[in-house]
Amino acid sequence: MRSRREHRYALKRRLLRETAREHGLRVLIETGTYMGEIAWALRRDFDRIETVELEPTLVRLAEIRFRRTKNVRVHEGDSATVLPRCSGSTRIPAPIALPAAGPYRCDRRSPPLQRIA
Ligand SMILES: C[S@@+](CC[C@H](N)C(=O)[O-])C[C@H]1O[C@@H](n2cnc3c(N)ncnc32)[C@H](O)[C@@H]1O
Repeated sequence: MRSRREHRYALKRRLLRETAREHGLRVLIETGTYMGEIAWALRRDFDRIETVELEPTLVRLAEIRFRRTKNVRVHEGDSATVLPRCSGSTRIPAPIALPAAGPYRCDRRSPPLQRIA
């Protein structure tokens, strides 16, 4: 049986896939790479995935994981700073997967959303 966490991840992946398909979105921008599970699971669903991680150790692990996955780019830093650069460089609409936990809440007051709103 699936754990609650696996179920939540599966729902999130499905929501991102369906939203992208419905709106013809080809780029995914993710804040909070963590272990890279979302980017890995969706790497074939998007032309490009930009994923931002604050923790340097997690960035190194993600760089190793995605070193042969050419359409996934891992960025190190605070999303509030890095995200506007990623989204600015896409010039095309992209869904954003926000971290489920961490310093930012997932609402419109969170710094990454304020910056790109
Ligand atoms: C719950 S995980 C997100 C996992 C992934 N986005 C997903 O949906 O499966 C939270 C991650 O966000 C990172 N994080 C927290 N605040 C951040 C910030 N301001 N900028 C970038 N990454 C951040 C944490 O280090 C952690 O790896």
